[in-house]
Amino acid sequence: MLDRPHPTPDAPTLDQQALATALSGKHFIGGRFVPARSGKSFAVVNPATGLEVAHAAEGDASDVEAAVQDAEVAQKAWAKVPARKRGATVARCAALLRDHAEELARLIALETGKALRTESRVEAQTVADIFEFYGGLGGELKGETVPFAPDVLSVTVREPLGVVSAIIPWNVPMLLMALKVAPALVAGNTVVVKSAEEAPLAVLRICELMNRVLPPGCFNMLSGFGPECGGPLVAHPLVRKVTFTGSVEVGRIVSKAAAEKLVPVTLELGGKSPMIVFADCDFEKTVTGAITSMRFTRQGQSCTAASRIYVERPIFQRFVDALAAKVDAMRMGDPLDEATDIGTIISPDQFKKVEGFIKEGLATPGATGRACSAMPSDPAMEKGLFIRPHIFSDLPSDSRLVQEEIFGPVTCVFPFDDAEKALAAANGTEYGLAASLWTNNLRLGLDLAHRLEAGLVQINQNLVVQANLSYGGVKSSGLGKEASLESMLEHFTHKKTIMVNYG
Ligand code: NAI
Ligand code: MG
Repeated sequence: MLDRPHPTPDAPTLDQQALATALSGKHFIGGRFVPARSGKSFAVVNPATGLEVAHAAEGDASDVEAAVQDAEVAQKAWAKVPARKRGATVARCAALLRDHAEELARLIALETGKALRTESRVEAQTVADIFEFYGGLGGELKGETVPFAPDVLSVTVREPLGVVSAIIPWNVPMLLMALKVAPALVAGNTVVVKSAEEAPLAVLRICELMNRVLPPGCFNMLSGFGPECGGPLVAHPLVRKVTFTGSVEVGRIVSKAAAEKLVPVTLELGGKSPMIVFADCDFEKTVTGAITSMRFTRQGQSCTAASRIYVERPIFQRFVDALAAKVDAMRMGDPLDEATDIGTIISPDQFKKVEGFIKEGLATPGATGRACSAMPSDPAMEKGLFIRPHIFSDLPSDSRLVQEEIFGPVTCVFPFDDAEKALAAANGTEYGLAASLWTNNLRLGLDLAHRLEAGLVQINQNLVVQANLSYGGVKSSGLGKEASLESMLEHFTHKKTIMVNYG
């Protein structure tokens, strides 16, 4: 039963629990579902109920070995498929994922506690967008002609790197995986993904669906813990590229392991993204923008969350009151309920971590923390990992809440009088992922946009990752860009020079 190629339904299924059960206990290697070689598995828990919904194969070095060997064999053949045809295959995957978007949204809501209407559906559609976007880029894997000498034709060609390992987190696992897998495949690489232990199901279903179109071995999926499964994957000698999204701490470990083998690495490591609000902004749009920017609907579990908001003093109090009122009106509850705006925190560990920050903020002399939005009253949710969104003011700038990534529904607000001081404060953390500015003075906005230390700056909007926009941080937020044509060319190919002397 376990090693049948596709024991799950072909057609989309809206029964997320049945699908979770069908996906239990398996890796996907070489086009087939297989259990962990050790026979071990671990629980996948719905954070809204505390109930186990599935179990996941617990991968180790022996599973890594099998997956990388299959990916290596598949890569040789996949690289020979013409680039536009590889793209067309990836575009067919996009269509399949679009057809299954509602199914994937329900499954991701079940395993992560992310609200279906506000978060999970958006993620599922964006995943299809990303595959669709890269599917059209096969023909862009072009080289150059280099003027070298008469009677010498010198050209460059883009070649794939080989087997790519991708290690992904749990907050937007389908999307963050798509940003790696889609360009890697179109460029002629094959991929082994290590899913996040908290959210292995929806990405496994995506892998299985795509394997209905891709040649076996091109896209493989392992579940398991970081050091035991991610570690051997990064270190495997046949893995020629490492791409990682997660914490700074693990990013450093992964980067060191890649450096040991001298293979390239892409890192997306979170942030402490500032939002700067000027008194001349469009007030209502900016308050709504703060809700989006802070990713409150995702419980703030986003690397681009606007966790520091600097507001020009004349509108400071009005802005904070309006923001608190809007967050208050948001509904926390069952992630699968259409009426729910805000779901849960992912895991007990993250819950404790976020609670620790909130307690510390509340205990800080002079600081105030406003708790917004009511806890759910549904008895089925009483074990749910819900945390009320908090808005802190009057925190000192060296507070841990201001400097460190909380990855929870906590934002810190500050008044400012001087744009230069706001800019210095905005740049005053170790991170540099994203930032937003809200003003009708575009001369000022553009000037500050150029001087903000961030990979992505938006003025009067704060969208999440989109296909075709280069995305990635500076400072401790990471290395390299994702989501764009350049990211495929720079991070998933190398340039070979070929010279022909015909004189
Ligand atoms: P993490 O960095 O520990 O986990 C991310 C991925 O790395 C998971 O798949 C994990 O299994 C894997 N991993 C862990 N140790 C590894 C190792 N030694 N070798 C190879 N792979 C390894 O992140 P975690 O513990 O889930 O969250 C901790 C904090 O990290 C969060 O509170 C947040 O601040 C940040 N984070 C940032 C994310 C982002 O989008 N940039 C996403 C998730 C977490
Ligand atoms: Mg960790």
